[in-house]
Amino acid sequence: MSVGRVRGTHDILPEEIGRWRLIERTFRGIACRYNYREIRFPVLEHTELFTRGIGEATEVVQKEMYTFNDRKGRSLTLRPEGTASVVRAYVEHGLQTVEPFQKLYYLGPMFRYEKPQKGRQRQFHQYGVEAIGSLDPTLDVEVIDLAWALMAELGLGGLWLRLNSIGCAQDRARYHDVLREHFAGALDSMCDDCRRRFEENPLRILDCKQEQCQPQIASAPGSADHLCDACAEHFAEVRRLLDALGLSYELDPRLVRGLDYYTRTVFELLSKDLGAQDSLLGGGRYDDLVEALGGPSIPAVGFAGGTERLALVAEEHGRGDPADHGIDLFLATIGDDGLDLGMRLAKELRSHGLSVDLDHRGRALRKQMERANRLSAAHLLVLGDDEATSGRGKIKRMETGVETEVEISSAALTTYIRDAE
Ligand code: HAM
Repeated sequence: MSVGRVRGTHDILPEEIGRWRLIERTFRGIACRYNYREIRFPVLEHTELFTRGIGEATEVVQKEMYTFNDRKGRSLTLRPEGTASVVRAYVEHGLQTVEPFQKLYYLGPMFRYEKPQKGRQRQFHQYGVEAIGSLDPTLDVEVIDLAWALMAELGLGGLWLRLNSIGCAQDRARYHDVLREHFAGALDSMCDDCRRRFEENPLRILDCKQEQCQPQIASAPGSADHLCDACAEHFAEVRRLLDALGLSYELDPRLVRGLDYYTRTVFELLSKDLGAQDSLLGGGRYDDLVEALGGPSIPAVGFAGGTERLALVAEEHGRGDPADHGIDLFLATIGDDGLDLGMRLAKELRSHGLSVDLDHRGRALRKQMERANRLSAAHLLVLGDDEATSGRGKIKRMETGVETEVEISSAALTTYIRDAE
């Protein structure tokens, strides 16, 4: 019996890889132009990083983490997201002592035990940016601008941005009271999770997807109406700058995001092509997280998006690199001398930077020719006894069918093939 893959995980086969490469290359290119530097951090972290960072009352921490004890009994977790890890690395390496303002980006797999469906996996991939070290609204807007620039460069439409502010910690405490007051009379009609959320963190009720809770959620007061002066001013400035840059958004007074570290600006980019899982990327400010994870009080803002979801949208729009670029040369060989010559020549030509392949299966010439066609080889050269003895052969340009006699040396062949490009 064969062993299948773990539910909610997936293989990215060579046929699909073109789209992934396009997304990753475009994201890296844009991050680089906005002057974000790459950071890579472990897949494994201490569980406490996420319980403290993301929040005990969140769905991610309560239901979705892959947590286990290692052989020494330490509780470890497969990272469910990147922000907490980036902040951990920032604090652990004392990056603030070198340069407190750091603009970082990352790409990599994340793990959440969720019910798999289209656009939702248990192992998924994120691309993300984190800008740590400034409270300035220009930074919120730069991060949002970067997200839009990525979508524009990928040529994707049918997207819209939802924006809100949930204020500082004090605002949120006040907003909790406002929400409790709103939901108190209706708790009997709401789901069990929401009754628990009412006690633990009423903000989380706004994320509930249960049908029975929707009427109460739809009429809930918005967080942006309960901001202190400084946070209201900050939010107004974010909106003014977005307008000035011509970046579109719609205000969503009940957008709160699913992770507890957020403060002030929160946003989500949504796509009409994603169905139920319509959130293409999400982010916001987390001004208290660096301090909560043991660092100094340093504000930050960022976002992350799911690569699978972006690949789905890119597919909808017919975007992606061609999966196979074709090879420069296929060497079809006849007999032992032809094969020896082929192996030697392939090694030399590859070291000259050409992509070259042979059949490796000792098959008839016709089969080797078919393979050259399937590989979209730009050139074909047959090597047999004659070619091995004379040192000359006929190279065929597959596009035109034209055959030319050439010297069989890596220098002559490289020049001939490069001239054809
Ligand atoms: P998040 O909203 O939990 O935020 O996830 C960000 C994005 O990751 C989502 O919009 C979605 O595209 C993708 N995603 C999440 N869960 C899954 C899943 N199970 N399957 C496929 N895709 C998924 C964060 O993770 C924050 N760290 C974002 C952030 C960065 N905020 C500030 N900086």
